[in-house]
Amino acid sequence: MSAQIWIVFLLTLGCTGLCQLPLPVNLNISSHNLVHLLTWDPPSGDPAGLQYRVQVYSLSDGTCMPLPRCERVVTPLLCNLTEALSNLQESYFLYVWAFMGNQSSKPAITEEFIPMDHSYLDPLCIRVRLWGGGALRGSQPTL
Ligand SMILES: *[C@@H]1O[C@H](CO)[C@@H](O)[C@H](O)[C@H]1NC(C)=O
Ligand SMILES: *[C@@H]1O[C@H](CO)[C@@H](O)[C@H](O)[C@H]1NC(C)=O
Ligand SMILES: *[C@@H]1O[C@H](CO)[C@@H](O)[C@H](O)[C@H]1NC(C)=O
Repeated sequence: MSAQIWIVFLLTLGCTGLCQLPLPVNLNISSHNLVHLLTWDPPSGDPAGLQYRVQVYSLSDGTCMPLPRCERVVTPLLCNLTEALSNLQESYFLYVWAFMGNQSSKPAITEEFIPMDHSYLDPLCIRVRLWGGGALRGSQPTL
Protein backbone atom coordinates (compact mmCIF):
# COMPACT_ATOMS: atom_id res chain seq x y z
CA MET A 1 0.00 0.00 0.00
CA SER A 2 1.39 3.41 -0.85
CA ALA A 3 2.46 5.83 1.82
CA GLN A 4 -0.19 8.32 0.74
CA ILE A 5 -3.00 5.84 1.32
CA TRP A 6 -1.59 5.02 4.73
CA ILE A 7 -1.50 8.68 5.64
CA VAL A 8 -5.14 9.17 4.76
CA PHE A 9 -6.03 6.03 6.68
CA LEU A 10 -4.08 7.20 9.72
CA LEU A 11 -5.54 10.67 9.56
CA THR A 12 -8.97 9.23 10.05
CA LEU A 13 -7.77 7.05 12.91
CA GLY A 14 -5.54 9.64 14.52
CA CYS A 15 -8.19 12.09 15.53
CA THR A 16 -9.56 10.83 18.80
CA GLY A 17 -10.46 14.19 20.34
CA LEU A 18 -12.86 16.79 19.15
CA CYS A 19 -10.60 18.03 16.35
CA GLN A 20 -11.45 21.67 16.83
CA LEU A 21 -8.06 23.28 17.21
CA PRO A 22 -5.96 24.36 14.21
CA LEU A 23 -2.99 22.23 13.24
CA PRO A 24 0.62 23.04 14.01
CA VAL A 25 2.51 24.14 10.86
CA ASN A 26 5.98 24.07 9.27
CA LEU A 27 6.98 20.67 10.58
CA ASN A 28 10.68 20.18 9.97
CA ILE A 29 13.06 17.38 10.85
CA SER A 30 16.66 18.50 10.92
CA SER A 31 19.05 15.61 11.08
CA HIS A 32 22.79 15.78 11.48
CA ASN A 33 24.94 12.71 12.15
CA LEU A 34 21.83 10.74 13.06
CA VAL A 35 20.71 13.22 15.72
CA HIS A 36 17.17 14.04 14.64
CA LEU A 37 15.27 17.08 15.88
CA LEU A 38 11.66 17.79 14.99
CA THR A 39 10.51 21.40 15.13
CA TRP A 40 7.24 23.09 14.22
CA ASP A 41 5.43 26.41 14.48
CA PRO A 42 2.16 27.22 16.25
CA PRO A 43 -0.96 27.44 14.09
CA SER A 44 -1.80 30.88 12.79
CA GLY A 45 -3.67 32.82 15.41
CA ASP A 46 -1.50 31.09 18.03
CA PRO A 47 -4.15 30.61 20.70
CA ALA A 48 -2.46 30.97 24.05
CA GLY A 49 -2.12 27.89 26.20
CA LEU A 50 -1.63 25.33 23.43
CA GLN A 51 0.42 22.26 24.17
CA TYR A 52 1.73 19.75 21.65
CA ARG A 53 1.99 15.99 21.57
CA VAL A 54 4.24 14.01 19.21
CA GLN A 55 3.92 10.40 18.10
CA VAL A 56 6.02 8.36 15.71
CA TYR A 57 4.53 6.02 13.13
CA SER A 58 6.74 3.20 11.82
CA LEU A 59 5.66 2.03 8.40
CA SER A 60 6.90 -1.56 8.64
CA ASP A 61 5.55 -2.14 12.17
CA GLY A 62 2.33 -0.30 11.44
CA THR A 63 2.45 1.09 14.96
CA CYS A 64 2.08 4.60 16.28
CA MET A 65 4.07 5.18 19.44
CA PRO A 66 3.90 8.10 21.86
CA LEU A 67 7.20 9.75 22.67
CA PRO A 68 7.33 10.04 26.45
CA ARG A 69 9.44 13.19 26.39
CA CYS A 70 7.19 14.89 23.83
CA GLU A 71 3.76 14.36 25.36
CA ARG A 72 3.29 17.92 26.59
CA VAL A 73 5.58 20.22 24.68
CA VAL A 74 5.11 23.90 25.45
CA THR A 75 8.32 25.69 24.57
CA PRO A 76 10.62 25.42 22.70
CA LEU A 77 8.57 23.67 20.01
CA LEU A 78 11.07 20.88 19.59
CA CYS A 79 11.13 17.12 20.02
CA ASN A 80 14.38 15.19 20.09
CA LEU A 81 13.75 12.06 18.01
CA THR A 82 17.24 10.64 18.21
CA GLU A 83 16.46 7.67 20.42
CA ALA A 84 12.99 7.04 19.04
CA LEU A 85 14.12 6.63 15.41
CA SER A 86 16.59 3.87 16.11
CA ASN A 87 16.11 1.80 12.95
CA LEU A 88 18.17 3.53 10.27
CA GLN A 89 16.32 1.96 7.36
CA GLU A 90 12.80 2.34 8.68
CA SER A 91 10.28 4.75 7.15
CA TYR A 92 8.96 7.02 9.85
CA PHE A 93 6.21 9.62 9.87
CA LEU A 94 5.96 12.07 12.75
CA TYR A 95 2.59 13.28 13.98
CA VAL A 96 2.14 16.49 15.93
CA TRP A 97 -1.12 17.41 17.62
CA ALA A 98 -1.96 20.71 19.25
CA PHE A 99 -4.15 20.34 22.30
CA MET A 100 -5.61 22.38 25.10
CA GLY A 101 -7.62 20.81 27.89
CA ASN A 102 -9.81 18.20 26.24
CA GLN A 103 -9.67 19.84 22.80
CA SER A 104 -7.27 18.61 20.16
CA SER A 105 -6.32 19.40 16.59
CA LYS A 106 -5.98 16.84 13.85
CA PRO A 107 -2.39 15.67 13.55
CA ALA A 108 0.06 17.49 11.32
CA ILE A 109 2.23 14.88 9.64
CA THR A 110 5.77 15.07 8.31
CA GLU A 111 6.96 13.67 5.01
CA GLU A 112 8.42 10.19 5.12
CA PHE A 113 11.68 10.22 7.07
CA ILE A 114 14.26 7.47 6.67
CA PRO A 115 17.19 8.17 9.02
CA MET A 116 19.85 6.70 6.75
CA ASP A 117 18.68 8.66 3.70
CA HIS A 118 17.78 11.92 5.33
CA SER A 119 20.48 12.52 7.91
CA TYR A 120 23.30 14.86 6.94
CA LEU A 121 26.45 12.93 7.74
CA ASP A 122 29.98 14.18 8.23
CA PRO A 123 32.60 12.35 6.12
CA LEU A 124 33.52 9.80 8.79
CA CYS A 125 29.87 8.83 9.14
CA ILE A 126 29.49 8.49 5.38
CA ARG A 127 32.13 5.76 5.34
CA VAL A 128 30.29 3.93 8.09
CA ARG A 129 27.04 4.43 6.21
CA LEU A 130 28.36 3.01 2.93
CA TRP A 131 29.84 0.02 4.67
CA GLY A 132 26.68 -0.53 6.69
CA GLY A 133 24.41 -0.17 3.66
CA GLY A 134 26.33 -2.79 1.69
CA ALA A 135 26.26 -5.24 4.57
CA LEU A 136 22.54 -4.72 5.07
CA ARG A 137 21.72 -5.16 1.41
CA GLY A 138 23.70 -8.40 1.34
CA SER A 139 21.73 -9.82 4.24
CA GLN A 140 18.30 -9.22 2.75
CA PRO A 141 16.44 -12.22 1.38
CA THR A 142 16.41 -12.56 -2.41
CA LEU A 143 13.02 -12.86 -4.05
C1 LIG B 1 14.43 23.09 8.75
O1 LIG B 1 15.30 23.41 9.81
C2 LIG B 1 16.64 23.58 9.41
C3 LIG B 1 17.49 23.76 10.65
O2 LIG B 1 16.91 24.61 11.56
C4 LIG B 1 16.72 24.79 8.47
O3 LIG B 1 18.05 24.97 8.04
C5 LIG B 1 15.82 24.53 7.27
O4 LIG B 1 15.80 25.66 6.44
C6 LIG B 1 14.40 24.20 7.71
N1 LIG B 1 13.62 23.80 6.55
C7 LIG B 1 12.40 24.26 6.33
C8 LIG B 1 11.70 23.74 5.13
O5 LIG B 1 11.87 25.08 7.08
C1 LIG C 1 19.08 14.88 21.32
O1 LIG C 1 19.34 13.60 21.85
C2 LIG C 1 20.65 13.12 21.56
C3 LIG C 1 20.74 11.68 22.06
O2 LIG C 1 20.09 11.51 23.26
C4 LIG C 1 21.68 14.04 22.20
O3 LIG C 1 22.98 13.58 21.88
C5 LIG C 1 21.48 15.46 21.66
O4 LIG C 1 22.38 16.35 22.32
C6 LIG C 1 20.06 15.92 21.90
N1 LIG C 1 19.89 17.24 21.27
C7 LIG C 1 19.10 18.20 21.76
C8 LIG C 1 19.07 19.50 21.03
O5 LIG C 1 18.43 18.01 22.75
C1 LIG D 1 -14.24 19.68 27.94
O1 LIG D 1 -13.87 20.44 29.10
C2 LIG D 1 -14.82 21.42 29.47
C3 LIG D 1 -14.29 22.21 30.64
O2 LIG D 1 -12.95 21.96 30.88
C4 LIG D 1 -16.14 20.74 29.83
O3 LIG D 1 -17.11 21.70 30.16
C5 LIG D 1 -16.61 19.93 28.64
O4 LIG D 1 -17.78 19.20 28.99
C6 LIG D 1 -15.53 18.95 28.19
N1 LIG D 1 -16.02 18.31 26.97
C7 LIG D 1 -15.90 17.00 26.78
C8 LIG D 1 -16.43 16.49 25.48
O5 LIG D 1 -15.38 16.24 27.58
